[in-house]
This record gives sequence, structure tokens and C-alpha cells, in this order.
Amino acid sequence: MRTDTGQVFRLEDYRPSDYLIPSTALSFKLSREKTIVVAELTIERRDGVAGNPPLVLDGDGLTLRRVEIDGKPLDASAYRATPDELAITAPPKADRFRLLIETEIDPSRNQALMGLYRSNGVYCTQCEAEGFRRITYFLDRPDILSVYTVRIEAQRDEAPLLLSNGNPGERGDLADGWHYAVWHDPFPKPSYLFALVAGDLGRVGDSFVTASGRTVELGIYVEHGKERLAAYAMDALKRSMSWDEEVFGREYDLDVFNIVAVSDFNMGAMENKGLNIFNDKYVLADEETATDTDFANIEAIIAHEYFHNWTGNRITCRDWFQLCLKEGLTVFRDHEFSADQRSRAVKRIAEVRTLRAHQFPEDQGPLAHPVRPRRYREINNFYTATVYEKGSEVVRMIRTILGADTFRRGMDLYFERHDGEAATIEDFVKVFEEVSGRDLSQFALWYHQAGTPNVTVSGSHNASAGEFTLEIEQSVPPTPSESRKRLMHIPLAFGLVGPDGKDIDYSEVDGASVEDGVIHLRKRRHVVRFSGVTERPAVSLNRGFSAPITLAIEQSAGDRAFLARHDSDAFSRWQAFNTLLTETLTAAFRSMLGGRKPEFATDLLHLAGTIAADETLEPAYRALALSLPGEADIAREIGTNIDPDAVHAGREALIAAIAGANRELFTELYGNLQASGPFSPDAANAGRRTLRNMLLDYLSVLPEGVTLAAGHFATATNMTDRAAGLTALVHRHRTSPETVEALAAFEARYRSDVLVMDKWFQIQASTPGPDAVEVVRALMDHPSFSIGNPNRVRSLVGTFASANQTGFHRADGAGYRLFVETVLQVEKRNPQVSARLATALRSWRSLEPVRQAKAREALLEIRSAHGLSADLRDIVERTLA
Ligand code: TRP
Ligand code: ZN
Repeated sequence: MRTDTGQVFRLEDYRPSDYLIPSTALSFKLSREKTIVVAELTIERRDGVAGNPPLVLDGDGLTLRRVEIDGKPLDASAYRATPDELAITAPPKADRFRLLIETEIDPSRNQALMGLYRSNGVYCTQCEAEGFRRITYFLDRPDILSVYTVRIEAQRDEAPLLLSNGNPGERGDLADGWHYAVWHDPFPKPSYLFALVAGDLGRVGDSFVTASGRTVELGIYVEHGKERLAAYAMDALKRSMSWDEEVFGREYDLDVFNIVAVSDFNMGAMENKGLNIFNDKYVLADEETATDTDFANIEAIIAHEYFHNWTGNRITCRDWFQLCLKEGLTVFRDHEFSADQRSRAVKRIAEVRTLRAHQFPEDQGPLAHPVRPRRYREINNFYTATVYEKGSEVVRMIRTILGADTFRRGMDLYFERHDGEAATIEDFVKVFEEVSGRDLSQFALWYHQAGTPNVTVSGSHNASAGEFTLEIEQSVPPTPSESRKRLMHIPLAFGLVGPDGKDIDYSEVDGASVEDGVIHLRKRRHVVRFSGVTERPAVSLNRGFSAPITLAIEQSAGDRAFLARHDSDAFSRWQAFNTLLTETLTAAFRSMLGGRKPEFATDLLHLAGTIAADETLEPAYRALALSLPGEADIAREIGTNIDPDAVHAGREALIAAIAGANRELFTELYGNLQASGPFSPDAANAGRRTLRNMLLDYLSVLPEGVTLAAGHFATATNMTDRAAGLTALVHRHRTSPETVEALAAFEARYRSDVLVMDKWFQIQASTPGPDAVEVVRALMDHPSFSIGNPNRVRSLVGTFASANQTGFHRADGAGYRLFVETVLQVEKRNPQVSARLATALRSWRSLEPVRQAKAREALLEIRSAHGLSADLRDIVERTLA
């Protein structure tokens, strides 16, 4: 592990390097404890660089064995080498020379899972962001694009499969049971996209013919015996390839495209050129082991990594400050893909829920940063919901402002102009300014300014004048190191819904720039007047969630209920009901705090039933409507002085009230939704399961709930239903014999399948109530648990810390103690995973004083630990600041 240098990297310090590396030849001699890497680099002085300045290459924990220039060993006085740097103090004066570097690395001891490591007996790599420097000394920065040729040597028994980026070349046998393979990638790429895999894996093969008629060989590599589980991923890959051709005009460019699934992986997946490496949970699936959510995630992540081939690989980032250039844009592309493959409305609502659950708390807490940050200490900590999810929303807003056709022309120009380059956000914004002729400078603040803008709205109707007026005000709250904010350009899609449920055709508008159903806020305050509005409309604002803001609109419960039934925009219709629920839940919280039993409007309880039974709506949409705001959502809405127990109690009370008021209806619907026929993971079938499982969630709180949930679990024919049954039992009837029995049955059935055991861990780690701490502690000793595996840690401890408000925030601080111990234990091996885990306390200041003090102590304890990694120190110090 590199020691924390405390160095801060700043955007304004960017400077091109003095040297370039147009070509890179790597040769690996793979062995568990001692792998030898020979790098032969063509080094070129950049045009305009005077003299022969020192060439300083990045390293991280490397052992140097040999260094030569133009075939001659380098004199010891001509360079300085440490594990973390190789400085050639006086490079040749020639414009171009060959540098050979031989390093030695130990993949078997690599537990940080960055660089070359072993997972389940397979050699694999992870180089983004700065892992390549753990393999060899290099200018390990994304603006150094190089053409790679890679030769891999390994023992044939240990690693019959030898993969790297690009197209396959020569291969053959060597003496003593060794063999080799050569790969060549003709596309210049940054070092973070380098990859190598060597091991003994099963292969699923297929092929794809591109629009221009080239055949691409597709391969997905998985553990032997699991080939069948890669079928869905392969199908998703082919659909992604077609979609990118149809929607963005982008074709694949190599002869092969390979995906490898590994069991130890820090993130979801990685877009290495021609050789994507995946966390196996995002490849392997069948109905027996994966839920519908797993299938949807696989589809989305396969697409995401594939789409990076153009947005990330062919056009990469100039520096890591530009991370959103590839990530925000690629998330936008995978969102659009899923919307086209599934249901657009349902997908949009799910996206917004995710954004609010992950990005809003980030943007509203101590870790807030702009979509394009200006400084960082540890880049690994900037793979955030803000860069990814808000980054995607910003691209979506560009499309909203420009319209789909102009947006596409901008994308075409972007690909044409920057192909083969390392680009910036300024480059990206500029193509859209050029194709549209618009000035996007105010809009670009979405990239540069942190914080979720607040928009407040009130409407008034003047019946005699036939006039409707909206008064709209924006403000952006201060965030760390940005106390003063500038006004944003906020595109608000809207409609005025008349008493017949249809959008009113207002005749004229005045007061703000209203264009094609979008109000463009640019000033602090706007007054928008609509004429020709004879009847009082219900205002539907931020349709489709056109801007990632918080919206406070003065509106009666009656208007909200009306919109929840009639709004022609599916997102806003969902939002109207969700707002009603949120208001009800914050009121319930206050009742609970005051020791009063919350009361619920019968209209609301019945509206839930009406929506549940509305056959004109997709089942998945109905399920989303019935899905109450989560405890963290409610807490965020309340803002300060949070008592998670009161939030939980209020929410449970509403669930019970909705279930009680709709008992017969829900029971009948639940029965009708029982599937017949074979399993299909498609959106329509998944949607029916989601709705049925949502109804189960309600019904499980009623007296007959245990029996129902136990039956649901026992008769389930797929993992979605089985997990839903088990969740209902564990979360609602923890101590009943049916639950104990179901947990044991699940464990007995899946104990040898760790990915499925992750679900068993998750369900128990999210059990509400104070006992969860002990439950999680005990499960950490379970034979399926392993502190070294990121998926296990995230399923058990990650779920506990970020998805169990009552357990984690237990009033006596026991949850925080478990958290501190685990974070420190994980960080010794894997700083990246521990730093991510530590973000669970980012909203600590919104807790009530007793918990807040205990949470602060926990953070201080981590901070004072000995030899903290840069990753963890960065998170903890920012969280405390
Ligand atoms: N670029 C990857 C993506 O598609 C993210 C990623 C995968 C990553 N593995 C990583 C980032 C390790 C940092 C470290 O989103
Ligand atoms: Zn990505």
C-alpha cells in the first residue's frame, strides 16, 4: 500500500507531460509469488519541450530488476528508483528512444485488488484509476495514449487461457510446460485500460455482425461449470452492440470482444479495451440464483462497460478531474438503453429513486463535490454517485435543452472531433454549443458547482382574467469550500393539468423563457404568466425529473391526489403520490416523537388501493407507486435531529394502515398475480413479480402475514420470489419458527454458492431493530463470509451500515463500534473498499444529539488509527470537517 503523502491534486495544475509513450510492449512471466514484467517503451519528447528534462515514471510498491535505454544497461548514476517512482535523471537528447524496464511483482499478496492480483486461482488486473503503476513504472495518467503489444507466458496447466486487450496474435508452447500468447491492440489507449487475464476458465462463445458487416467473436469467461449462467449476459451484450449502432451510430472496432467474470473485484465492472473484467455478480444469473433486480443490473452493467468503448476508450479523459466525461455520459447511455429495452417510465422513476438515495445525501453532506471536481487527494474516492449519476443527469439536461435531434448532432460531432483523444468537459460542452448555436456557459455550472439546487414554486389563478401565474425561485445551498453559489440554468419541464386530467393549451406566456413545455430558469426569481387559462389547473412541474433539484411546490393534498391519478407524465404522476406519502411519513415521524399514534387520511389509504388495482398501469409502475419512501429518504426530508427509531415506527405504521385498509383488495390482487408458465426475466414478467412481492410486503404485517410469507417462500420457483418471502419473514417476523426454518432452508440449499449467500447476508443485515448488530457480528463468523472479499463485506457490513437505519444507528453506539472495527480491519487489506464503507456515516450531522456525538466519536477513532491509508483518511477527514 502506498503511504499517504497528504498531497492534494488540483485541476488548475494540469500540465501535459514532457514525454509521450507512443508504443508499449509488455512481456509477463506469470508466477504466483514472483511475476516478472518487462516493459519496452518507446519514449518521445513532446514537440516544443526544450532540452532533456528528467523523465519521472510512476510506480507503486514495485521492485526494479533492470533498466536499459536503447539496448544498454543504464548506469546507476543515471536514474533513481524507489518502489513508487523511477526517475531517469538525464534521458537521451534524441527525440525518441527505447526504455526497457524489468520489474518484479507478487500477485499472490495483492489484497488491494488493484494492479495484477489473483482471484479464485485466476490472474487478473484492475488498472483504473492508478493500478497500472503497481505493474510497471509508467507515465500512469490518462492523457498518455499508447499502442500496446502484450506477450503473456504462463504454465499451461495453471493458465491454459491467456487474454489481454485487442486482437489475438501468435501463440504456442514453450519448454517445461509453459506456453505463451501475444495480443495486439491497434487503438492507442491510456494505461488504465490495460488488462490481462490468465487462468483456467470456461468459455461461452458467440458472434456479432456489425452494421458494416464485420464479424466480431464474443467470449464470456466464467468458472468451469458456470457457462450456462452467462447466457443472459451474452444476450445483453449483443443487444447493447445493436443498440449503440442504432441509437448512437457507434460500431465495435476490434475482431474480438471478451468479458471475464472474477469473484474478487472492487467495483461493478471495468471497461478495459476489448477485455472487460466483471465482478461475477454482474455476469452470472439464472432464475434459481438471481433476482429480477440482478438480471436488470447485469443488463445495465454489460451495456455500460460496452458503451465505454466509445465514451471512455476511443475518447478518453485528459485527467481524472474529467472522470464524468466518460462516466456521466456512459451512465446516461446505459440508462437510455435500459429505458428502450424495458419500460421508459419505470426506468426513469427507478433512476430518480437511486439518485435521491445516493447522490442527494452526498450532495447535501460533507462529501459534496462538483460533477467535475477541482481537487482531490485520492481519486479512488471520486467514483461517486455525483460523478456517475448526477453526471448522467447533466447530459440528460443537455438533451432536454437542445432537443433529441440537435443532441445527436452534438454527439456525432464529439465522436468525430475527439476520436483518439483525451478530452475535457469543456470539449464536450463546446460541441453542443456549436451544433445548437446556444450559449451553455451558465448551464455548465452543473459541472462546476456542487450542491442540489432548491426550487420553490407557488401558483395562483385569476379566473376572471383567465390567467395563471407561477412564481418560481431558485437557490443553491452552500457546500464545503463553496460558500457562495451562482445562479443555475434549470430546465423545468411542466404541464398545467385541467380538471379533465388533460394538459391545458394555454394561449400565451410571459415572464420567462418557456420553450416547448420547458421553463428555463436562469434568474433567482421568475414570474411566469399563462393566459387563456379559464379553470384552475393543477401544476405538474419537473416532469420526467428534467432537472436534479429539490422542488417545494405549494400544492393541496387534493391537487396532488388528482395528479397522482391523471398526470399524463408518468414520472410526475408517480411523484405526486410519492410526495403525498412523504408528507404523511414526516408527519408520522413527528407524531411518534411526540408519543402520539400517527393518523392517516383514509383517502390516501384508498388511493394506494386504487393505484394498486389500476389495470391501465403497468404492474412495475404500480409497485413503484406502492413502494414507500425509504427510512433514509424520510430522514433526508426531515433534515435534522433524526431519531431513526421514530422514522421507522412511523413508516411501519403507514404500511400497516395501508395494508389494513386494502386487505381484501391486496389479497385478491396478490392471488391473481401468481405466475403461470415458464420463467422469463423480461420486464413485463419481472414487473408482475415486483408488484406481487410488494403486495406481500404489505400483507406480511397483517395477522396472517407469517403464514402467507412462509408459504410464499416455500412455494417460490425463482430467486426473486424466494428472496422476497425470506425478506418478509426476517424483517417482519424475526423470531417466529417459520423464519428460523426458512433461514436454515435457504442456507442449506445455497451454502456452496457465495453469490446467493450474499442475499442471505443482506436480508439479515437489513433486519430492522437493535439486534441487527449482534446478528451481523455473528454472521461475520459464518463460513461463507470472508473479510477479504468485497462482495461479502458489502453484502453483510455494507448493507448493515447503509441500509439499516435502526440497527446501524442504535442509540447506544454498538452499531458504530462494529463499523469502526470492520472499517479498520478491511482497510489493512483493501483501502478502497474500506473508504467506500466509511461513507456510510456521511450524514451523521443530521442525527439527534446523542447519536450524533457517538457517530463523531466513531469517526475520530478511525482518524486516530495508526498508518491510515490515503483513501480512508480522505473520507474520514472530509466527513468530520
Ligand atoms: N470504470 C469503471 C466503470 O465502468 C469503474 C471501475 C471499475 C473502477 N473498477 C474500478 C474505478 C476500480 C476505480 C477502481 O464504471
Ligand atoms: Zn463506467
